[in-house]
Amino acid sequence: MALSLAGQWVVITGASAGFGAAAARAFGAAGANVLLGARRVSRLAEVADEARRAGSAHALEHALDVTQTESVTAFAAWVRSVAPRVDVLVNNAGGAHGIDPVEQATDADWEAMFQTNVLGTLRMSRALLPLLRQAPSGILINVGSVAGREAYAGGAAYCAAKAGVLLLTRALRLELCGTGVRVATVDPGLAETEFSLVRFKGDAARAAQVYQGVVPLKAEDVAEAIVWVASRPPHVCVDELVIKCTDQAAIHKVHRRTPA
Ligand SMILES: NC(=O)c1ccc[n+]([C@@H]2O[C@H](COP(=O)([O-])OP(=O)(O)OC[C@H]3O[C@@H](n4cnc5c(N)ncnc54)[C@H](OP(=O)(O)O)[C@@H]3O)[C@@H](O)[C@H]2O)c1
Repeated sequence: MALSLAGQWVVITGASAGFGAAAARAFGAAGANVLLGARRVSRLAEVADEARRAGSAHALEHALDVTQTESVTAFAAWVRSVAPRVDVLVNNAGGAHGIDPVEQATDADWEAMFQTNVLGTLRMSRALLPLLRQAPSGILINVGSVAGREAYAGGAAYCAAKAGVLLLTRALRLELCGTGVRVATVDPGLAETEFSLVRFKGDAARAAQVYQGVVPLKAEDVAEAIVWVASRPPHVCVDELVIKCTDQAAIHKVHRRTPA
């Protein structure tokens, strides 16, 4: 059944690639207006075009770096200037940097992961909650990860950051209880996007190995889950949704086909 979010105002961070771009298209297909943020503005403009073709009456983009409070403040001011309220905020910007054990990892990678995943999500939530409160049944959806629920070697900082996202989601749910604003987290497992390319600093061969022999989630699978969470009736809050590909039963239990 096609889901309708006609006329709703949806803000998506990290909309220039992966889940965020797929979510922009999926919200567009549901008739929502999308307001897109990321650092690569030319890519955002292409995604906005795709969302318009999918069905958005308004699909607009603005530069956003969630690691910078001034950038988040400017982005929120822009949102306020183009939309009367925010019905859905998807805090998706983030990712992993490196997979080194703690003894070898760098401050730069740790700081990037905490700045985007944890502090970026907090900054965006603080900036846009006043506009979410103006919606009749607003919803804030954070994109977490199975890495926030299960540790793996080399993932100390990324797992800690995503566990932070899970706990800040739960704290927001408590803080907003009684306001009508819903708070949810969508926590995917292995999904093929630019995620591994970023993690391995542009090493495409190493990134491809992550998905070798596996049928991973596609960005569209996760986007569909996000739109489903956003389109539940106002009295329903899907607090936490974990979504993994069939080949991944747990972080350490992934079925890989051997090449013929
Ligand atoms: N793929 C997976 O296996 C997987 C699994 C679980 C969870 N996740 C999470 O899902 C989210 C989306 O990841 P993805 O898989 O779609 O990866 P992706 O294809 O690399 O997309 C990441 C997005 O985040 C944006 N971004 C990164 N740093 C940013 C910053 N400082 N300010 C604003 N935007 C920023 C990027 O845009 P710009 O570079 O243009 O700024 C890009 O649009 C992340 O939070 C990631 O941790 C991914």
